[in-house]
Amino acid sequence: MSKFAIINMSAVEILDSRGRPTLSVHLTLANGATGWAGVPSGASTGSREAVELRDGDSGRYGGAGVLRAVGSINGEIALMLEHCTWISLAEVDQAMIELDGTRDKSRLGANALVGVSMALTRALAHWEGGSLYEYLTAFTPHDVHPRLPVPHFNVLNGGVHADNAMDFQEFMIAPLGAASMSEAVRIGAEVYAALHRRLAKEGRVTSLGDEGGFAPQLADPEDALALLVAAIEDAGHTPGLHGVAIALDPAASRFREPDGSYRVGDARMSSSELIKRYAAMTEEYPIWSIEDGLAEDDEDGWRLLTKELGDRVQLVGDDVFATNPAIIRLAIEHGIGNAALIKPNQIGTVTETLQAISLCQTRGYAQMISHRSGETHDDFIADLAVASGCGQLKSGAPARGERIAKYNRLLEIAAYRPHLPFGLPEGARRTGGI
Ligand code: PGA
Ligand code: ZN
Repeated sequence: MSKFAIINMSAVEILDSRGRPTLSVHLTLANGATGWAGVPSGASTGSREAVELRDGDSGRYGGAGVLRAVGSINGEIALMLEHCTWISLAEVDQAMIELDGTRDKSRLGANALVGVSMALTRALAHWEGGSLYEYLTAFTPHDVHPRLPVPHFNVLNGGVHADNAMDFQEFMIAPLGAASMSEAVRIGAEVYAALHRRLAKEGRVTSLGDEGGFAPQLADPEDALALLVAAIEDAGHTPGLHGVAIALDPAASRFREPDGSYRVGDARMSSSELIKRYAAMTEEYPIWSIEDGLAEDDEDGWRLLTKELGDRVQLVGDDVFATNPAIIRLAIEHGIGNAALIKPNQIGTVTETLQAISLCQTRGYAQMISHRSGETHDDFIADLAVASGCGQLKSGAPARGERIAKYNRLLEIAAYRPHLPFGLPEGARRTGGI
């Protein structure tokens, strides 16, 4: 790629899917190519994440406004980036990291940096004349090929994403056995509809959580698992690792007590007791993947979890890794998990996100590309998932515009690029529960 110049960039404060402020960024290159990005925002954020800049105690939006982050882009960042010549996305991302000057991107805001980085990536893809995923494919190792990911539909929401009392945050259905992207999306939507019918029939609430999944009052995670299996069968599909599997994100940092124990329903458990409970769940239900099964600072617990279940269940690090290549490198050395959740705004630039993916790929860790609980209609992560070839994406329920935007983008890529394979790459499927 030859040199480029950014002639214009600007950010605006917009709303995310929870009605909280976030940013959109528009950017134009001297050659006329343009890029846009909408910045996502988490609720169950790990302490190691790059920091979103919010206005604080200003009275607007209860302090959650992002005018300071908008100001970072329209002020300092634009001043540095506009009208210079740049050679690559990586060079621009590095310049922004240095301009920020903090370890956690808190001065200019990770929300500002990631917005510029994503918009610039789109503009560069536009300039090359291909689609975003084709442009991103250039950043993966040579032996990694693009593929359409298995969508992980979060159909039951709990934790900090819903007002119910379910401790586990996400119960996802993953059509691992689907033959194509369109079949996987159809299965997800059919199970979602069957789950709705079943909840209504049982007289349970059918209100939704932040990621579009239902948020009923279920006492124990096993109740939710039984309900999911029933809904999969109601929809005429087969629960199992070769049919419709289940993935969990308990987000365990959120239900860890100050004394180090975990509270699930009425039970209080040590790390090893919770691991035994996960083991029992994987015996009884078709769980193929567990994300953040233990809290981000429970390193001994994570090692034990990996030793006990790592050969048969995918163990994904989200809060514990924070898409941070330095943290993931250490975790791999320490035997923590066997897969990483990948969220661009957790680390704050596209370049570092791609580095985290490449690191996992060269060290044999699986990756799952992820949305945030606060989203916009930006579908960047759909292309990122295809380009990475990781075979897995989570973007919430098959409902609500901001979740559907990603799945619809995948349906379009699948339709226009019929040569792309679908599903998990070779070796990603572990032996699993049943
Ligand atoms: P968040 O949740 O976007 O609220 O952090 C998603 C997750 O925990 O995976
Ligand atoms: Zn998570």
